[in-house]
Amino acid sequence: MKPTPLPLNHFLPGSSRLVLGCMSLGGPWDAQDIGEADIAQAHAALEAAQSIGITVFDHADIYKRGRAERCFGALLRRQPSLRDGIILQSKCGIRFADDAGPGRYDLSAKHIMASVQASLERLGTEYLDLLLLHRPDPLMEPEEIAEAFRQLQSRGQVRHFGVSNMQASQMRWLQRALDQPLVANQLEMSLGKLDWLAQDASFNDGQSGTALPWAGTLQHCQAEGVQLQAWSPLAQGRFSGAAAADDRIAQAGTALVRELADQHQVSPESIVLAWLLRHPAGIQPVIGSSQPERIRACGAATQVQLSREDWYRLFVSARGQALP
Ligand SMILES: NC(=O)c1ccc[n+]([C@@H]2O[C@H](COP(=O)([O-])OP(=O)(O)OC[C@H]3O[C@@H](n4cnc5c(N)ncnc54)[C@H](OP(=O)(O)O)[C@@H]3O)[C@@H](O)[C@H]2O)c1
Repeated sequence: MKPTPLPLNHFLPGSSRLVLGCMSLGGPWDAQDIGEADIAQAHAALEAAQSIGITVFDHADIYKRGRAERCFGALLRRQPSLRDGIILQSKCGIRFADDAGPGRYDLSAKHIMASVQASLERLGTEYLDLLLLHRPDPLMEPEEIAEAFRQLQSRGQVRHFGVSNMQASQMRWLQRALDQPLVANQLEMSLGKLDWLAQDASFNDGQSGTALPWAGTLQHCQAEGVQLQAWSPLAQGRFSGAAAADDRIAQAGTALVRELADQHQVSPESIVLAWLLRHPAGIQPVIGSSQPERIRACGAATQVQLSREDWYRLFVSARGQALP
């Protein structure tokens, strides 16, 4: 049965236009445990996010090997009322190398169920608002995934389901087996990662060979009411202060971002995000900073309406190549 499309950006009531990505919480990747300093950092990031209206928090079972979720869980345990006002999403399906095998993807029902159970325990919550399949697994079987989703939903452990890093054909294939609509797809999109636009801006221009992998993914998501989320939307600061000295494209892009930031009287981060927000697909940027100041600097993004011309100036500058 064809799922009823949900209206864009209303995939979960109360969802904010920006999302806080929690991958950087929980200390260094090789730390053994979390300490008070990590919890304090998570608290400061959460407060900064809430101060700019963020209600959605993005996790994954693997972030800091579970310590990012544990930090966030510590906040929820200390202040249980926090849970009511936020939307929690997590991901499963990537496994690090272990005694059983190499680093791998695993969308078996057994792994999905075990991963969600562990995320819920770490986060100290009874349910996830949204579960994303982190990456496509060449061995995935839609019927098996459908059964896992059915069980997770009937137990009240997950309310909605989505994917990450999947293209339209994979989503269609998966959706045919599912009872629930896929409500989100999280993909890397930013001024520093432009292949998602190549299909629309460069198709048949005789220069770009990169259009195929996206293969209608943006259009599929828009047509089916699937919320697009952009990971690494700040391109890790490449256009807002962290450009390498020898990165000529980033240097030029940074100068343009600064010019527009001055013009709109906002931070460079807000311009970089406003560029994504200006796209008609209704993209939700998942910002990854853990610094309260940088998180707050993102807040004005939703108030900036870039002109068509300025959107193209940024696009062409970051592309490093004129259009057409
Ligand atoms: N679905 C997926 O496969 C996938 C993959 C990767 C990430 N994600 C999600 O997306 C979120 C965002 O990813 P991200 O962290 O790569 O994205 P990002 O928002 O593009 O970058 C944030 C990172 O860049 C640093 N940064 C930003 N501006 C900077 C500047 N001007 N100078 C120096 N450093 C700067 C931040 O450091 P500070 O902390 O110091 O601000 C932070 O480490 C993650 O938290 C995660 O939730 C999903």
